[in-house]
Amino acid sequence: MPPLTIVAISGSLRRTSHNTGLLRALQALTPPGVTLDLYDGLRALPPFDQDHEREHVPAPVADLRRRVRAADGIVIATPEYNSAIPGVLMNALDWLSRPVEDSSLRGRPVAILGASPSQFGTARAQVVLRQVLHRIQAPVVAQPEIMLFRSHERFDSAGTLGHDEVTEGLLRELLAGLTRLIRATPRAAAAAPA
Ligand code: FNR
Repeated sequence: MPPLTIVAISGSLRRTSHNTGLLRALQALTPPGVTLDLYDGLRALPPFDQDHEREHVPAPVADLRRRVRAADGIVIATPEYNSAIPGVLMNALDWLSRPVEDSSLRGRPVAILGASPSQFGTARAQVVLRQVLHRIQAPVVAQPEIMLFRSHERFDSAGTLGHDEVTEGLLRELLAGLTRLIRATPRAAAAAPA
């Protein structure tokens, strides 16, 4: 099997973010032949501006689009903000969705997950994220759905996930699901723009 490259995006800018910590835990579990690169440029992305989706594209946007296009798959860990996804993440998805005839995210397999201190563990944010990715026509891993509730009891003050076999098993399953989706999705199978 050829090696796979996955770009991981955390929707949180927080220094000790549980969602970024979740991606670090995922990174530690990647099997041989799979490289998971943590993207840390979300803060540098300017607000989406349709005047610049094609021309004078800001350098951080061009860099993110290039990374996503070069990747075999994407992982997104989202916090839940006000029952939806954080604005900084939505901003990145807006940039990646355009220009519509050449979206770098369309057709690119995506796995999603999230962590929150609440009892719902980002359930509502993940519904929103699935809907956004559906609109962009990026195929999303269906199972497992990883919604890490009561995250403050699972991560230490540095944002590192404590050892937990159940969660680690789910993270491995998610990676396996993304790998299967990548293998099943022809590289040039970008759907027609809607
Ligand atoms: C939150 N938080 C939150 N949590 C939740 O479960 N549902 C929600 O609707 C919200 N809304 C919300 C809005 C805003 C503006 C903030 C800053 C926070 C709490 C949130 O889940 C918590 O801060 C997480 O720790 C954020 O994720 P990171 O930064 O740890 O990855």
